[in-house]
Amino acid sequence: MTDIRPAERRQLTVMLCDMVASTALSLRLDPEELADVIQAYRQRCADVVTAHGGIVARQIGDAVLAYFGYPRAHENDAERAIRAALAIADTQWQAIGAADLRVHIGIATGLVVVGNLPQAGEELSAIGSALNLAARLEALAEPGMVVVAEQTRRLSRGLFEYRDLGPQELKGFDQPVPAWQVIGERRNRSRFHALRAAELTPLVDRQSEVETLERLWEDARAGRGQAVLLSSEPGVGKSRLAQVLAKRIVDRRCLRLWYHCTPNLQGSPLAPLVRQLALAAAITPEDDDEAKLAKVERLVPEAMPNRAETVPLLADLLSVRYQGRYPPLGMSLQRQKQQLFHELMQLVAVYAARSPVLLVVEDLHWIDPSSDELVGILIDRLRTLPVLALFTARTEFQAHWDANAHLHPIALAPLERRDSIAMIGLLCEGKRIPASMVDQIADKTDGLPLFIEDLTRDVLESAGASAGDGDATNAGLAAMTIPATLNDSLMSRLDRLGSAKTVAEIASVIGREFSYELLARTANMPEDDLREELYRLVDAGLLVSRRSSAVLGYAFKHALVRDAAYANLLRKKQAALHARVAQVLVEEFPETADEQPELVAHHFQAANDVDNAVAFLVKAAKLSARRSGFAESISQLGAALALLAVQPKSRDRLRLALIVHRTLGGIYAEYRGFSSAECGRAYNAALDLCRELGDAPEIFSVLSGLGSFEITRAAFAKCEALAEECLSRAAAQQAKPPFIMGHLLLGGTLFLKGELAAAREHLEEGLRIYEQDQTARRARQVLYVQDQKSTGLCYLALSLTLMGRIDDGVRAAEEGLRHSRALGGLHTINFSLCYLAAVHLIGGNFAAAVACAAQSLEAAREQRFATWVGISEAIRCGALVGSGDHGADVLAGLTRGIEGHTEIGAVAYQPFVRAQLAKGLIEAGRGEEAVGALAQALTQSEATGERFYAAEIMRFQAEALALRNDVTGAERSLREAIELARRQKAQLFELRSADALRRLVNA
Ligand SMILES: Nc1ncnc2c1ncn2[C@@H]1O[C@H](COP(=O)(O)OP(=O)(O)OP(=O)(O)O)[C@@H](O)[C@H]1O
Ligand SMILES: [Mg+2]
Repeated sequence: MTDIRPAERRQLTVMLCDMVASTALSLRLDPEELADVIQAYRQRCADVVTAHGGIVARQIGDAVLAYFGYPRAHENDAERAIRAALAIADTQWQAIGAADLRVHIGIATGLVVVGNLPQAGEELSAIGSALNLAARLEALAEPGMVVVAEQTRRLSRGLFEYRDLGPQELKGFDQPVPAWQVIGERRNRSRFHALRAAELTPLVDRQSEVETLERLWEDARAGRGQAVLLSSEPGVGKSRLAQVLAKRIVDRRCLRLWYHCTPNLQGSPLAPLVRQLALAAAITPEDDDEAKLAKVERLVPEAMPNRAETVPLLADLLSVRYQGRYPPLGMSLQRQKQQLFHELMQLVAVYAARSPVLLVVEDLHWIDPSSDELVGILIDRLRTLPVLALFTARTEFQAHWDANAHLHPIALAPLERRDSIAMIGLLCEGKRIPASMVDQIADKTDGLPLFIEDLTRDVLESAGASAGDGDATNAGLAAMTIPATLNDSLMSRLDRLGSAKTVAEIASVIGREFSYELLARTANMPEDDLREELYRLVDAGLLVSRRSSAVLGYAFKHALVRDAAYANLLRKKQAALHARVAQVLVEEFPETADEQPELVAHHFQAANDVDNAVAFLVKAAKLSARRSGFAESISQLGAALALLAVQPKSRDRLRLALIVHRTLGGIYAEYRGFSSAECGRAYNAALDLCRELGDAPEIFSVLSGLGSFEITRAAFAKCEALAEECLSRAAAQQAKPPFIMGHLLLGGTLFLKGELAAAREHLEEGLRIYEQDQTARRARQVLYVQDQKSTGLCYLALSLTLMGRIDDGVRAAEEGLRHSRALGGLHTINFSLCYLAAVHLIGGNFAAAVACAAQSLEAAREQRFATWVGISEAIRCGALVGSGDHGADVLAGLTRGIEGHTEIGAVAYQPFVRAQLAKGLIEAGRGEEAVGALAQALTQSEATGERFYAAEIMRFQAEALALRNDVTGAERSLREAIELARRQKAQLFELRSADALRRLVNA
């Protein structure tokens, strides 16, 4: 073997054949004779192997090692290997002077790496467990026996008879291994019957084809013979349709004649006819000449006009001796063939005279030339006979018959998606399988029933094997690789292409679809060659080209062909090509890299370049979040963390992890709310990493995020500590944003605690620095989740309102909303809307509050911003109560609002929303319930220190107490409220309570 063949991964069937007792032979024979015998034996093995499409990889002493499926795969390599083995085992060795020579043979199939491997001194060799297994099975086989492994049997099941040798303890295998002895070929089966008919799926779709066939059968029955050429790619369902025709359409009593072209008999004249006649006559090897001839005679009806000539013609064809009973034919071979064809047509006519005939010839793409000629004659002849002829062929078969009205080409198309899905459902037979898996199977199989059957069964099997309960689970999904039963046929489609296969492999790394440009940059080969190879791939039906606008693109016609090309590459080669694709994308296709960062991440990941993969996953996550694909975004970041988790630590990796956690925090903030546990976890993890790294500049944005989490959790001490850390770190920094952040966090915290004057100072200071520092606005927006100015203005607006400056408060909140709208971030806009609504509610402009809260609620629901749903609803209903509506649905809305706010883990504003419900209950005259709700609100307020609304809660309490005529209690509450409001400088609340007290006392 002198060719250099680069190593590939592929499924290979390995045959090892050895001489038995060659020691005895060597004692009996002279060494020179022995050498001749061994030489002849080797030659015989090599001839048989080659004739069956295999290659002899090595000869070690008396042993011959052969591969089937390399360098070219055939869809039936396992079958070929077994046929070759049987032929070698049946060899009569007396011709070489060694009548007592016996061989024993082992065959196994499996995934190997094969090629000129450096480990093997650049010789052609294969590495994989199939080799060891074949050797062990060979040792196990008794003289004359062919023993095969389970996988080999599975691939040729139905074609041969086997004897189960039971599980075998084999050296080097920890589990007992099944082994099968091949007894011989099963003669009475078509390929379809042998390989697939055992497990038929109920027929799916094909109504229109069935109707056409019904119509044609009616015509044929009426004496107007018809011929159909049914063509498609492998596995679309030609044989199945032929079977439907025979079983469902054609009447039971009609004659059916079946002929099969087979790949191993393509060079054997009239092979399909010979096989069919031998089967029909039921000739067995045990019959003697006379019995055989009698059987041939029985095939020829008395009605045949020229019976004395027909019988010897058929006998000759079947190699049956007729000379004793019939005169020799005495014709030239050419003449004899013509005569035979003539008689055969007569035979068809005689059969058809008895009853209409269905005649099926399967798989014309494997037809031998003589049969091909015969078919041409038949088509012409049957036009006036009650005969329907159905021919099946794959698309590569080119019919050379003349167009004719009674000849109907039908191109069978793959199934529609919904039929594929129906078929997968039927195959699962009640086993539950997730819809996503059904979708994936449908995606991969492209409507080809063959693929659907094998892939679904594979998935079910592996799911059943690992789950143990027969239920398909995720294990099945993970195992969605190429089924062994399809492996050889997929590879054979690629191998047929020679050098174009390399292009297919490179393309497979890019993906199922790829642009010409990207392939050209990746493949790095002369443009003309590349175009030529692509042309061949399209021509062979493996690729389809699609041109959209100016971009020339291609796609693998079948996902599984792509998978096969990809699987054929060594892992190292795959990784190197992925690295190349990623690099080309980043360097030469920056727009694609920007628009589809997850694609770039995928290639980096497959290239084992974790750092780049993570960086691009983060980009992808941000992009998904911008499109509000939060779930995608979170799973992308999760993937990034998973990649980092298994890497050795380094500063750079810690940095990457920090960025991932921080991004995750920001995304959870929008998706589940700042108050969500996930958001807190992500920011805390990020903060830990900041501390581990010492001086990460990201720390400010992390502190900010964490601050937002803690403030919504009403953890004010933590907020103050975080704000202090920010301010003290910021003092050492040039940049302003950390300063702003510190002030705002502190301002917000102080506001919630009810320390309004101090709050206002910090908020105004923060906003003042913000206005001075125009430059970094955009960067801030990205880093700080919510814009700082919008945040500051909202808290300031509330503070001002409480201080009695309602107009200034509304103005500030409106400015905040304008600013957010100008920036365009949906989450920040929602935030500003909600706070403006709160300002209106607290300030007493209920109509404006209702309108604004309704907008906020709608936006929050639409964008699924969890933070703003509950509270917006509570504000809206609180404002409705204010405007005199305290109907049942308003109260229900308040309860829903509280629930929504609680669900997201929010602690801040709990007393506020509960107070709104209490107010509604008071208005509805349900004083007792109101007292309870208010007591709860006050307890919460005491527990957390969130006291900005406490004075109002006390005022409501007074109203509730007054309802039950507890004037003293009411008065006490109002005095406490006035006292607290005064301390807080909450003039608005002070005035309201004072007013209420005046009215109470004067009543
Ligand atoms: N419409 C269908 N409904 C259910 N099963 C189908 C349908 N069509 C095909 N099948 C099944 O899919 C498998 C492949 O079909 P079939 O063998 O008929 O394909 P083919 O076109 O004859 O392929 P080849 O070219 O390899 O002979 C078979 O098991 C068959 O029973
Ligand atoms: Mg078929």
